[in-house]
Amino acid sequence: MWFFLFQLVLTCLIDKYKCTTTPDQVFSITPRLQADVELLKNVSSMHETVLWQPASPDQITINAEVHLFIPASSQKPIIKLLQRYDITHRVLLANAQELIEAQKRNYSTDPRSSTSYYERYHPLEDIYHWINKTSREYSERLQVILIGSSVEKQPLFVLKLSGKGHQPKKAIWMDCGIHAREWISPAFCMWFVQYSVMFYNQHSDITEILDKMDIYVLPVMNPDGYKYSWIENRMWRKNRSRNVDNACVGTDLNRNFDANWCTKGSSDNPCDETYCGRFPESEPEAAAVSNFIRSRKDLVKLYLSIHSYSQMLIFPYSCSYQEVPNHQELYEIAREAAMKIKIHYKNNYKFGAGAKSFYLAPGGSDDWAYNLGIDYSFTFELQDNGRYGFLLPPSHISKACSEALTAVKSIALSVIKKR
Ligand code: ARG
Ligand code: ZN
Repeated sequence: MWFFLFQLVLTCLIDKYKCTTTPDQVFSITPRLQADVELLKNVSSMHETVLWQPASPDQITINAEVHLFIPASSQKPIIKLLQRYDITHRVLLANAQELIEAQKRNYSTDPRSSTSYYERYHPLEDIYHWINKTSREYSERLQVILIGSSVEKQPLFVLKLSGKGHQPKKAIWMDCGIHAREWISPAFCMWFVQYSVMFYNQHSDITEILDKMDIYVLPVMNPDGYKYSWIENRMWRKNRSRNVDNACVGTDLNRNFDANWCTKGSSDNPCDETYCGRFPESEPEAAAVSNFIRSRKDLVKLYLSIHSYSQMLIFPYSCSYQEVPNHQELYEIAREAAMKIKIHYKNNYKFGAGAKSFYLAPGGSDDWAYNLGIDYSFTFELQDNGRYGFLLPPSHISKACSEALTAVKSIALSVIKKR
């Protein structure tokens, strides 16, 4: 009996994970052979894992890093399988639960905490509260517009930011939180709105932008999914629509737009993370955004969609390998924005046309907006580069948002100069 206890303590001292249950982890795995690719595709669909990168198993290719979330329960069989096939893995995050708790914890109001409201992540109810409060506080600059509601009847509120002058102005559209688990994205929309109202008439760049263009900001485009990612499953990506004849829930809102809808790079299987939905704009969230932008299509000159992670600036097309007519122009605008991030924040952003430089992903909002006639259309993939992925600690929010803000202002000023 004593000997047994002694042995247990000893094992604990040597390997502390043996005493506790193994935590959920994230692995980075780089397939070197086609056989490895096939195995990884199987692993990511068979077990209770969640693929972080790439977005869907069919985009797994030789020599490209795969980031895979592996819940404690699937770890042993998966490690065994990887060993059997001689595939090496690197533990990207040794304890996902700890990071998830840190992302939620910091939100409690500690009066001594030096971090501001904008350096924390916020649950959906708080964001609604914030929208209400901020729009009343800055009623001169902000107007709330209800553009529709989600599957679960959550309101979709857009904040309209404007400077001086009342005539109908050209406009910028920006949405955040299309994908539920990308928490840094809604945090950025909030950061952007707060910056704009605080520094209008103080910083010349944002003053010029707001005097020349209205900005429509949708802080959470997928409220049901966002809420679900706080309460039930931190790794949730899609919205929460039910499917007929299928128990799997959710459509990928960034595959639900009318741009080569449901072709290669998305899935017609409701159980997949990139499920395109029943038809283009079948989802109320995508329909609300499309209808709103369509109704102002002659005013909206710049479309911005904010995602994470991988530090990229993407422009059309993602739905085909075709080059758009103003490719060079978009390339230059993106290059300049990335350069400013490099100069001011010493961080690297890749940039390029979606499909050609990165991967095919049809049905995206950026391509749809471009085809509608909005010649300047960009998708941001914010921080980080895979160190924490979706579990970016709150302490990184400030830098991630500041650098993205610099890029957004750069792009907006470039577009203003064009006209
Ligand atoms: N990570 C984003 C997604 O998978 C990329 C979006 C790029 N644009 C696009 N139309 N797919 O949705
Ligand atoms: Zn995304």
